Amino acid sequence: MKKTILTGDRPTGKLHLGHYVGSLQSRVALQHEYDTFIIIADVQALTTNWDNPDQLAGDLHEVAMDYLAVGIDPSVATIFVQSMVPQIAELTIFYSMFVPVNVLRHNPTIKTEAAQKGYNDMNYGFLGYPVSQAADITFCKAHLVPVGKDQAPHLELTRQIARRFNSLYGEVLVEPDAMIQPLLKDLDGNTKMSKSIGIAIYLSEPADEVLRKVKTAVTDPARIRKDDPGHPKVCTVFAYQKEFNKSFAPELEKICKKGEIGCVECKKRLAAALNEMLEPIREKRTYYESHLDEVDDILQAGTQRAISVGAQTLAEVKEAMKIDYFG
Ligand code: TRP
Repeated sequence: MKKTILTGDRPTGKLHLGHYVGSLQSRVALQHEYDTFIIIADVQALTTNWDNPDQLAGDLHEVAMDYLAVGIDPSVATIFVQSMVPQIAELTIFYSMFVPVNVLRHNPTIKTEAAQKGYNDMNYGFLGYPVSQAADITFCKAHLVPVGKDQAPHLELTRQIARRFNSLYGEVLVEPDAMIQPLLKDLDGNTKMSKSIGIAIYLSEPADEVLRKVKTAVTDPARIRKDDPGHPKVCTVFAYQKEFNKSFAPELEKICKKGEIGCVECKKRLAAALNEMLEPIREKRTYYESHLDEVDDILQAGTQRAISVGAQTLAEVKEAMKIDYFG
């Protein structure tokens, strides 16, 4: 029997290189080895965008198309929509009985996000989304969850919930392992790549835009003239070259240190490498953009499968909690 992976994203717009490095590439690499579930977490998106629901349907399709474009294969992986799997909502309620509010209040990712959004009195749904995320992960008894580093506190909570449940009611849930991926720095060198701050390069970005954005990236501040010796260690563009242009990075490191390549040339090489990687992704995405009915069929079939897997887990959960009154 294959082990199970679950991971996913909030539908808040197109996915970018940070998502690719943080999670998409491992999903694609592992999808044949694991039974893979990918959640489009629209309910979780509502925890911050409840007042702007018009955006949701469009964003859901953007994310689904990005998944298909990067090579997630719907014949082996199950892509589904969170709000359409009622078992996830039910599990969330049951788990919420034994999660202390202070554990959620002290969750570092919740704190950071709340500060970014300027919340002082958080909504109940937002404070509780890590509990709902535990339901996302456990409804299919996932063994492994590939996510970026910012998700580590949520994974820890999921593991605690699974342990707590099993010790209270009997062994039903699987305690998942986190597969934590490094976060990609933003091209401005400071924050992680994000939609709201800095310079995000989307997977669907046109080639000339990729070049334009790479040109604005921050390099070694000590380098003023082209032939000044560079310090690749502190250079954001070099970090990207190591990630996306692996074969060139060792030589680049040498010639940059000797001042034999200028930043402009280096950025052009990075943009070329990115565009080479993104071109087949863009091509596949263009196909799905004009075949949205296929995307819908994939989501609906995936959601049906998630519902039947969820129903099985929920039945076991209810039995263990002794709330299956009529057999
Ligand atoms: N919280 C994740 C994010 O913001 C999205 C997500 C929802 C998720 N449910 C999940 C990730 C379950 C992994 C597993 O990106």
